[in-house]
Amino acid sequence: ANSSADDIELWKKSTLNQILQRGELRVGMEPGYMPFEMKDKKGRIIGYDVDMAKKMAKEMGVKLKLVPTSWDGIIAGLVTGKYDIIMSGMTITQQRNLKINFANPYVVVGQTMMIRKELAGTIKSAADLDKPEYTVVTKLGVTGEIATKKFFKKAKIVTFETESDAASEVLNGKADAMVYDQPYNILFMSNKGKGKLVHLDAPLTYEPLGWAIRKGDPDFLNWLNNFLRQIKEDKVVGFYDDLNEKWLRD
Ligand code: ARG
Repeated sequence: ANSSADDIELWKKSTLNQILQRGELRVGMEPGYMPFEMKDKKGRIIGYDVDMAKKMAKEMGVKLKLVPTSWDGIIAGLVTGKYDIIMSGMTITQQRNLKINFANPYVVVGQTMMIRKELAGTIKSAADLDKPEYTVVTKLGVTGEIATKKFFKKAKIVTFETESDAASEVLNGKADAMVYDQPYNILFMSNKGKGKLVHLDAPLTYEPLGWAIRKGDPDFLNWLNNFLRQIKEDKVVGFYDDLNEKWLRD
């Protein structure tokens, strides 16, 4: 059984304790996944996850530092201590969860498809698109890539480093469809994709998004889950509903 001395040792090592000692919460994210993290015209990182991170730091009573990271190394950066937490629209997958821990989901999304407008009459589902003459694009290393490989056995799959490069490929007609997280696609359709692409918005997957932390840290996980419940359920303050209204309203 755990003695209270063991509990104190655990707390000393907890990332939460380190954040409090340091007076700063360091959050790893990869800007590019609108509306969760993206750059504004002045190059500042804004979005849903940024507002949430600000609220989190405020409740901890510490400063916030955003650490922009490539998606490719985002889990490695967490594990090696470059930041305390990943808040980057990350889907809680069972494979990722073998390496890192996740707080409870803060939003649920799914993969959807944006297709060239010319194909709207012929393509109504993923199965319709799974033909050798079609090219489907997505981003490298995301759940969109996993879904794409699962749903497309015959179509050609091309992956891009960024979601915006993938989307451009469909816009300029070099690819036929893009598979990515629904909130991104909704926003894309409301600006650049308008009148050019068609959104097949029925989710192909079930994807809870969660904040990721290093394993073996029950104190930090406990704080995060209680913080999350408070903001989600507290309709008096209404922070969570306001946040969804601000960033996720279609
Ligand atoms: N939800 C997807 C995943 O976890 C995409 C997340 C991409 N996030 C980002 N900040 N670029 O794979």
